[in-house]
Amino acid sequence: MSPKIILDCDPGHDDAVAILLAARECDVLAITTVSGNAPLHLTTANALLMCELAGLDIPVHAGADCPLVVPAAHAPRAHGETGLDGPPRPSVHTEAASADAVGCIISTVRTHDDVWLVPVGPLTNVALAFRQAPDIVERVAGISLMGGAVGPGNVTPSAEFNIWADPHAAQIVFRSGAQVLRMAGLNLTHQLCLGAEVIAALRADGGTVPAFMADLFDFYLAGYRERAGLEAAPMHDPCAVLAVSRPELFTFGARHVDVETEGGLTRGMTVVDERPGTEAVPNCEVAYAIDTPTALDLIVDAVRSHG
Ligand code: BDR
Ligand code: CA
Repeated sequence: MSPKIILDCDPGHDDAVAILLAARECDVLAITTVSGNAPLHLTTANALLMCELAGLDIPVHAGADCPLVVPAAHAPRAHGETGLDGPPRPSVHTEAASADAVGCIISTVRTHDDVWLVPVGPLTNVALAFRQAPDIVERVAGISLMGGAVGPGNVTPSAEFNIWADPHAAQIVFRSGAQVLRMAGLNLTHQLCLGAEVIAALRADGGTVPAFMADLFDFYLAGYRERAGLEAAPMHDPCAVLAVSRPELFTFGARHVDVETEGGLTRGMTVVDERPGTEAVPNCEVAYAIDTPTALDLIVDAVRSHG
């Protein structure tokens, strides 16, 4: 049976892939959006765009338009000003089901058993839901998030964007006591990269969605090439989806992970306790390795399946 999930996202090129992949691999009860890669009105429009383009009947609920404490920050260098720069932008005809993502998370978790939360943007919505309705923490089957890193960050030497963008929310989630917390950080997501060959294959496919995704990937890859000299671009957010639907593809290590909120040099750092013999009680299944070829095939199949 497909896992029931709420996908909390800030599309974003790799979030767009996560939407298509989740729709194929999971029972997506709702998509919730958050300010992150772009301002909230754009991330919401982008989620609606992806659903409309792929013919997905999934309600989209808009959420937090700013982090809990720090000012909002976006990622135009990676995703453009719209959050989904690259292809010509089709007009969107559908509207968000509500502007209450937090309420949607709370009511969905209260009324359905075994729901996974899959946040692939800043953790603001999830933290607000846990703060407003602490009873849902023990009801969620688990949280599988894209964020953090064991090792270097991408926004600062020590911090990854999703955690850095709302460190206080991330700290609430990592300290929540959820029965399962899976972390796909940069150390993992940089093992799942997509390059020119896959882009060409998608374009050759001829379908509307693969062609649109190929144009998105061109923009996304060009950014990684320019900024980091990479010839293939990391598929960060799909990793958090696969960690729920295909955990057998991953190697996880049980670790204690906490988030630095204040550090002058280390705001948003995920502090992973890797000390040999540490007595810290693990709160997180940290992903260390992934079966890359299988995961990449699943992504390509998912994009193609939406035609
Ligand atoms: C994360 O930040 C965003 O730019 C991506 O969508 C991903 O969720 C990677 O650091
Ligand atoms: Ca994202």
